[in-house]
Amino acid sequence: MFYELAAPSWGPEEIEAAKRVIDSGFYTMGANVKAFEQEFAAYFGARHAIMVNSGSSANLVAVAAMAYRQTRPLQRGDEVIVPALSWATTYHPLQQYGLKLRFVDIELETLNIDVRQLEQALTPRTRAIVAVSILGNPAPLDQIRAFADAHDLLLLEDNCESMDAELNGRKCGTFGDLNSFSFFFSHHISTMEGGMILTDDREFEDLCRCLRAHGWTRDLPPDSSLYTRTGSDHFEAYRFILPGYNVRPLEIEAAIGREQLKKLPAMTAQRRQNWALFQSLFAGDERFILQRENGQSSAFSFTVILNPACRPDRPRVFAALKEAEIGFRIITGGNFLRHDVLRHYDYEVVGGSTPQADLAHDYGFFVGNHPHDLTPQITRLREVLDRVCR
Ligand SMILES: Cc1ncc(COP(=O)(O)O)c(C=O)c1O
Repeated sequence: MFYELAAPSWGPEEIEAAKRVIDSGFYTMGANVKAFEQEFAAYFGARHAIMVNSGSSANLVAVAAMAYRQTRPLQRGDEVIVPALSWATTYHPLQQYGLKLRFVDIELETLNIDVRQLEQALTPRTRAIVAVSILGNPAPLDQIRAFADAHDLLLLEDNCESMDAELNGRKCGTFGDLNSFSFFFSHHISTMEGGMILTDDREFEDLCRCLRAHGWTRDLPPDSSLYTRTGSDHFEAYRFILPGYNVRPLEIEAAIGREQLKKLPAMTAQRRQNWALFQSLFAGDERFILQRENGQSSAFSFTVILNPACRPDRPRVFAALKEAEIGFRIITGGNFLRHDVLRHYDYEVVGGSTPQADLAHDYGFFVGNHPHDLTPQITRLREVLDRVCR
C-alpha cells in the first residue's frame, strides 16, 4: 500500500521498554502503570489519571462512575446529549446504563456537534452531555462546558481521537468532569490497546480505580470516601463494593506508553506539518469540503467530503483511490443513527433529523495522517482526486 490508513509510531525505545517488562517477570498492572498515569496527568495538567485497557473501557468506566457517585448519580431513564457522529463505544456505555440518548446533528465543516442545537436538546431529564472532538479537531468545548455548568449537567469528554489538540491554549481532554483517551494503534500515541481517564475529582478517581478492577477496594487509598474499613484485614484484602469490571491495563502497555508520551509533542508537530500541506493543496477547491480547524487540531487524519453541489460519484472516487493504493474509510463511525444497533437504544433525534451527519456519512471519507513526512502520499492523493473529480 502506497498510502496506509495507519502506520506504526514505535522506535527502538518502545521495543526496549517492552523487553524490560518481559525481563522483569511482572506483567500485570504495577509500577509502569502508576508512573505512566502520573506522567500522563502531568502532561495534561490534570489531577488524576486512571489507565485502562482501551478507550472504550475508559468510556465505560467513566459512565459507570457517573452512575455510582454519591450525590445525584446518573439513573436509568436520565437523558444524555450526544453528537450524531462518533465511534460506537462513545454511545454503548450510555445504553448499557439505561440512559436515553438525545442525538444532536453536527456541523459539516468541523464534524463536531452543532452547539446551536444544545438548548433544543435540553429537557427536564437531561443530566449529562458527551463532547467528542472528531479526528483531532477540538469541539467547541468551552461552550459545551459553559452549557453543562449552566444546566448542572455532567460532562464526559470523549477525547479518544484528539489527544494533544488544544482550544484557547487548553488541552482537549481536560474540559470534562471525566475525560477519556485511546492508545489504540494509529492513534496519537499507541500502546497496542490501551486507554486513560483524566479527572480532577477525587471521588471520580476512586470510583474509576475501583470499577476498573472488579469493584474491589484494593487500589483505593485508606481515606477513600467510598467505604469505611472494618477491623478485619482478612476481609479487607478481598472486599468488593461496586459492580465493577476487569479492564486493567498491562505493564507492557504502560511501559510503551511512557516512551510514546515523550515523543508526543514531536509527533503532533509532524502531524500538523502534514495537515498544513494537505490544506495548502486542497483549500479553496469547491469540489472538496475539508474539516475546518477549531482551535489547534492534532490532525488525526484528513477528511474529505465530496461537495454534493458538484454531483460527485463517490464509488468512482473510491475505485480510483484503491487503484492508487491509497487507504480510506468512513469518517469515525459515520452517522451513528444509520447503524442497526440503534434498535437496542432508547433515543430521540433533536429536530427530527441529522442532515449534516448524513452528508458526512454519504459523501465523506478520511485518509490517514502519520507522525512522519507524508509529502509524496498527500501529493498523490491530490493528483488522484483532481483527476477523478472533474
Ligand atoms: C471517539 C472514540 N471514542 C472511543 C473510541 C474507542 O477507543 P478504543 O479503540 O481504544 O477502544 C474510539 C476509537 O477509535 C473513538 O474514535
